[in-house]
Amino acid sequence: MVAETSLSSDDLIAPLFIREGIDQPAPISSLPGVVQHTLDSAMTEIDELIQLGVRAVLFFGVPEHKDDEGSGAWDPNGIVQLALREARKRFGDSIALIADLCVDEYTSHGHCGILDSAGSVDNDKTLALYRKIAIAQAEAGADIIAPSGMMDGQVAAIRESLDQAGHPDLVILAYAAKYASSFYGPFRDAVDVSIADGGDRKGYQQDPRNGREAMEEIRSDLAEGADMIMVKPAMAYLDIILRARLETDVPIVAYHVSGEYAMLKAAEANGWIDGHAAAVESLLSIKRAGADLIITYLARSIAESLSGYVPALPAPLKAIDPPTPELES
Ligand code: PBG
Repeated sequence: MVAETSLSSDDLIAPLFIREGIDQPAPISSLPGVVQHTLDSAMTEIDELIQLGVRAVLFFGVPEHKDDEGSGAWDPNGIVQLALREARKRFGDSIALIADLCVDEYTSHGHCGILDSAGSVDNDKTLALYRKIAIAQAEAGADIIAPSGMMDGQVAAIRESLDQAGHPDLVILAYAAKYASSFYGPFRDAVDVSIADGGDRKGYQQDPRNGREAMEEIRSDLAEGADMIMVKPAMAYLDIILRARLETDVPIVAYHVSGEYAMLKAAEANGWIDGHAAAVESLLSIKRAGADLIITYLARSIAESLSGYVPALPAPLKAIDPPTPELES
């Protein structure tokens, strides 16, 4: 009766990896229970998620070919565009389709943008690519575009391009406070990304030592036109979620990332924790901190357990015979 926080299937967003050129779903060893989908198996998964009450999916593409600029990201026949079109056709408005917008899955060097001659990401040249991707995703049927590359000015650039291309209603979910985190390790297996020359993303993602800086990132994304903001990862950054909650009323999405999921699964597999209870507690803590929605690889299993939850009924009340008044003679 007095619980302040609750968890339900419609709080959860399921990330889906869709791989070009495979005919069977492929397991990802560092993400037990998660697969790289074929186009077909992704559609079956979405169908089942809808039945479980999940209201949104987030698409990541794993292309067959990569190049310097990551052109598969805006190719109208790129794997994410194909999946968006198919899902829109099959499921109409029963599920919100979110497209991750970045080039790292599509570039041969694994960075989130175009490289300059020194091998660093060129922020402003990269924005031109992001504009093309946004339009390709919008035309393929995305409801929400989620730029994850952390380039300065990416939200403004994408908003302008979408508006000019006749998509003023498309929602932008900005990966606003995204840290350069070691918890993304398994994700890079899932999308077959390794960053060239042992590089990292510290030039464009945030420093885990900084919290005020995250608030600046959030403010600038909102000023540029973000409709929703994201904090990522989730559990090591609950303070950032709370600070964001205190400052803004737009929906806040937290990304419970691959490494957070993998840790739970590994401890569970060793019999060290009760995996399901720890998963529920993790997600509740993220909501308690102030997130409205959580992107999580746990979406399906939690939704299954919530839909199977039948509260125990109280034992039927026994009729109590009223005491027979003693009749005084
Ligand atoms: C970039 C992107 C990453 C994740 C989501 N979008 C990886 C990165 O920034 O290196 C990580 C998600 C996860 O770990 O679950 N396209």
